[in-house]
Amino acid sequence: MYPISVAIDGPAGAGKSTVAKMVAKRLQFLYVDTGAMYRAVAYLCLRHRVDAEDAVAVEHLLNTHDVVFAEGTDGGIRVSVDGLEVTKALRDPDVSSRVSAVAAHPQVRTRLTEWQRAFARDHSVVMDGRDIGTVVLPHATVKVFLTADVRERARRRQSEYQGRGFEVPFEDIVRAVEERDRRDCERAVAPLVAADDAHRIDSTSKSIEAVVNEILQLVENAH
Ligand code: C5P
Repeated sequence: MYPISVAIDGPAGAGKSTVAKMVAKRLQFLYVDTGAMYRAVAYLCLRHRVDAEDAVAVEHLLNTHDVVFAEGTDGGIRVSVDGLEVTKALRDPDVSSRVSAVAAHPQVRTRLTEWQRAFARDHSVVMDGRDIGTVVLPHATVKVFLTADVRERARRRQSEYQGRGFEVPFEDIVRAVEERDRRDCERAVAPLVAADDAHRIDSTSKSIEAVVNEILQLVENAH
């Protein structure tokens, strides 16, 4: 049987990763967090003090360091940089503030897109990101575009940061989320946009469980 793929795209903080992880667990598919892959490149820039806007320097970093994405033991992917497991550090605000810049470089996108497609060739996947339904897996079995009101998304980000010991003022988070949305939507290559055949779900006033069930139903109906 061919692998099944569920593509979940949407802006920062819409709940993609929480929902995608739960859908993957229920279906026993691999969860591929493509944001973590772009974050790994931003982390590499931060660690080696390379300007994330500098396409040539970022490509050189990727060519000279060992960045590995592999199937983890928890149903998702594990990210290692130069032999070190970095999955947790990828969510730090310093990484978040650089990630849209590295994600705008076409060479970075080409490389990570190949990696993402390889995961979907070998496994049934739930993959979340910005361009999964439009570029990475245009023939995905089910495509979802998940959104939520910007202040609700900022509120979710703030509680995620608090849970991890970072105290960031709410209005700063709203601004950071809006800035990341703007950059992701306006970039020339693979901008954040809903695929024509994506099911749009607004999670602002829906529970996580309701969104998960809605997606499971779409998968059920698709085959
Ligand atoms: O989903 P997450 O917030 O971890 O994504 C971090 C950033 O990675 C996004 O803001 C975007 O710039 C980039 N990204 C992307 N394409 C994807 C996934 C993430 O450009 N498929």
